[in-house]
Amino acid sequence: MSSVELDQVTIRFGDFVAVDNCNLTIESGEFFSFLGPSGCGKTTILRAVSGFNDPTEGSVRIGGKDMRGIGPNNRPTALIFQNLALFPLMSVADNIAFGLEVRGIPYNERRRRAEELLNLIALPGQGDKMVSELSGGQRQRVAIARALAVEPEVLLLDEPLSALDLKLRQHMRTELRAIQQRVGITFIYITHDQGEALTMSDRIAVMSAGIVQQVGNGSEIYNNPATAFVASFVGENNAISGKVSRAEGNYAVLDTSFGPLRGINNRGLKEGDAAYLFIRPEVLRPAEEGASGDTTFETEAIKEEFEGSFLHVFLKSDNEDKPFKMALVNDANVTRRSPGTSVKVTFDPDRAVALPVGELADE
Ligand SMILES: Nc1ncnc2c1ncn2[C@@H]1O[C@H](COP(=O)(O)OP(=O)(O)O)[C@@H](O)[C@H]1O
Ligand SMILES: [Mg+2]
Repeated sequence: MSSVELDQVTIRFGDFVAVDNCNLTIESGEFFSFLGPSGCGKTTILRAVSGFNDPTEGSVRIGGKDMRGIGPNNRPTALIFQNLALFPLMSVADNIAFGLEVRGIPYNERRRRAEELLNLIALPGQGDKMVSELSGGQRQRVAIARALAVEPEVLLLDEPLSALDLKLRQHMRTELRAIQQRVGITFIYITHDQGEALTMSDRIAVMSAGIVQQVGNGSEIYNNPATAFVASFVGENNAISGKVSRAEGNYAVLDTSFGPLRGINNRGLKEGDAAYLFIRPEVLRPAEEGASGDTTFETEAIKEEFEGSFLHVFLKSDNEDKPFKMALVNDANVTRRSPGTSVKVTFDPDRAVALPVGELADE
């Protein structure tokens, strides 16, 4: 089958380490994403899987077979780039069947296969149209069909939606996931867009600066981030810095400028460690009158943004450049606050995550 294993993969360009000791196995039939900011090494990993460059150290195995020295045309993979590189002066069907023509498949067979793929991408009977007559989303689907025509075991997608407008991008997430489920092959998807990764993927590898920080499904990564980078890159998060004053059971209590605050300690933080407590905007809520203890703190309202379903409250934090955010569901009687009002907030300590101090993602 077509699992993809990255075994101690390091890729250097001169002295620069673009991918640093990456170890993971992508299961056959999985929709797996690499998520990270621009320049973190995503494309470099994809090129090592597709055969455009072998790793400096370590191995890439597909279906258990070491791929070193095997070129892109002889691997069971197909690659879709951001710029789709369709042939504008060829019909849709000829575009889809291009790889088959190169392989000497006869016309009638090519035509039949193109029609099957047009059904798969929900463009039945549109094979005679010119590519220039299609919308952006339709072209995207044609590029996928063209890549699937040669029956790869693994489809590699390098930010394929980034040229589309927002609405189409969101629509194509659903389409892509549906296509992957219909064909049942392994998809490896790379993106800097967490929404794409979270909605489509079975599992996600979050990367920063060449290092895979965490591999897990969407809810593991969102609810139980392994590092400060993952906590701050995936979804919105409030980071409160402090020092661990007590580690007790599953919890750590941090000394912060807002007093002692408690959160889950899954990373073995010990007394005296520098740490962040991450509390998501939807986890913060106004505290009852007179509440106190290490799941409550007091701060000040800066401003509010009313968004219909949510009221976003910006609160004074320990970092002037980055106020805390509290997201309150609009239940028709949410209280509004004027700037400067003091606000007491509380949170569920099981949904606050204490992590060692580390790199935070830029906004
Ligand atoms: N052929 C190359 N020569 C030198 N540096 C490269 C080369 N390809 C990529 N890099 C560098 O490696 C890093 C990772 O690049 P890339 O994998 O394209 O990032 P991403 O796809 O995550 O945006 C970047 O700093 C990039 O400049
Ligand atoms: Mg890239």
